[in-house]
Amino acid sequence: MSKELVEKLNLELKDKSTNEILEYFLKNYKNTSALSSSLAAEDQVLTDIILKKDKDARIFTLDTGRLHPETYDVMDATNLKYNIKLDVYFPNVDDVQNLYKTQGVNGQYESIEKRKTCCGIRKIEPLKRALKGLDIWFTGLRAAQSVTRTQMKLIEWDEGFNIIKVNALIDWNEDDVWSYIKENNVPYNKLHDQGFPSIGCAPCTRAVQDGEDIRAGRWWWENPEHKECGLHRK
Ligand code: ADX
Ligand code: SF4
Repeated sequence: MSKELVEKLNLELKDKSTNEILEYFLKNYKNTSALSSSLAAEDQVLTDIILKKDKDARIFTLDTGRLHPETYDVMDATNLKYNIKLDVYFPNVDDVQNLYKTQGVNGQYESIEKRKTCCGIRKIEPLKRALKGLDIWFTGLRAAQSVTRTQMKLIEWDEGFNIIKVNALIDWNEDDVWSYIKENNVPYNKLHDQGFPSIGCAPCTRAVQDGEDIRAGRWWWENPEHKECGLHRK
C-alpha cells in the first residue's frame, strides 16, 4: 500500500519545486511528519524552509554523544534564531555503557562490524524512537553526495523504518545549498568553513583535501561503498 503511494507521489510531485513539495507534506501530514536534522548545511536549509511555512513543524536531531562542539553551537544558534527547541534524542544509557565494556570507547576503528554496532546504538535505535508514529520522514539527502546515493529518489519507501522518506533536496547541488544559506542568513556549522563538507560524529569525521569527494572525510578508513551507517540504505 505505502509502496504504491510512494510511486503515485513521485509521479504527482516530480515537477514541483522544493517549496511546493514541502508544503504538500506539511499540509497533508501536519502531525505525522518530521525533519531529522544532523545540523549540517542541507538540514539547516530544510529547517529554514520548513519553519517559515510552519513554525510548529517537528524537527529532531540525534545527539550521538560524540558530536563536535561546533555542532552544539549551531544547535543553540538554530534554537535562538527560530525561537524553537529542537527535539533531541539521546542513545540509551545502558546500551552505551555496555558498548564501552564490550568494544571500548573507539572500537569503531577496529572493524566495520564494531563501527556498525556503535552506529546502531548511537543513531539507529534513537532514530527508531524518533520516527515512531510518523508517516513522513524529511531528510537532507542529496543524490550528488556519494556513490551510495546516486539512485535515491525524491520520495522513497524505507523498508528498514517502514516510513515514507522525502528527500526534498535530492537534486540540489552544493552551490544551491550554500547560496540558500547565504541569501537567507541561515545559521550553519562553522566546521563547514574548515574543510568539512559533510559532518557526523567527531571521531568519525575529518576535513577533506581540495578535490576529494565530499564524503571522503566520513569513516575515512573504510571503502566508499561501505560509508552508510544504517540510517540510509543503499
Ligand atoms: S549519515 O547517514 O552519513 O550520517 P548524513 O550525515 O549524510 O547521513 O545525513 C543525511 C541525512 O540523514 C540528513 O540530512 C538527516 O536527515 C539525517 N541525519 C544524519 N545524521 C543525523 C543526526 N545526527 N540527527 C538527525 N538526522 C540525521
Ligand atoms: Fe559511533 Fe562513529 Fe557511528 Fe558516531 S559515526 S555512532 S561515533 S561509529
